[in-house]
Amino acid sequence: MTALDVTGRPVGRTPLDLRSWHRRTYPRATGKDVVAASAIAAVSLGLAFGGCGGSSPTSPSVGAPPTLASLEATIFLPKCSGCHTLATTQETYANTVGVASDQVPSLLLVRPGDPDGSYLLQKVAGAFGIHGEIMPPEEPLGAEDVAAIRAWILAGASND
Ligand code: HEC
Repeated sequence: MTALDVTGRPVGRTPLDLRSWHRRTYPRATGKDVVAASAIAAVSLGLAFGGCGGSSPTSPSVGAPPTLASLEATIFLPKCSGCHTLATTQETYANTVGVASDQVPSLLLVRPGDPDGSYLLQKVAGAFGIHGEIMPPEEPLGAEDVAAIRAWILAGASND
């Protein structure tokens, strides 16, 4: 009765359900891209902790954090939901926040308040140590998108 995915695990237990397991040969991100993404992520984290003052064109984390609804409209729906079950804010929240990663089960996909410890953020930032590809595989997110997800997680990953 329980459906199994291609790896033989029950589908219902796959944290970030994949709509499709088409495995194409994706061009790998270059080391340079990965380093740049990590560096920008580190900068925005520093600003967020730095609190008052300072603004950076690369960091939307200064000021109010983005809502899940805004991330859904600009990132998760258009750029992820073709492959993952992330087409509504409810799906995105239920499939990521507090849910263990399938690839690295010791990490949560989204750990509220801890962007660097959130596997979803690591995957879109192309962080060192991720399994598989940077996400999305063919066209990685821009620095603003990564910073917006980071700011949302840092502010507590609210369901709004
Ligand atoms: C073209 C299809 C495709 C798109 C678009 C895509 N993904 Fe993925 N994603 C995959 C595949 C296939 C895997 C498993 C293999 C891998 O990680 O390389 C995966 C794995 C993941 C994982 C690891 C899941 C786990 O439980 O460990 C995360 C997190 C993830 N994707 C997030 C995203 C996010 C966020 C987006 C949008 C910004 C996105 N993906 C867009 C196909 C896609």
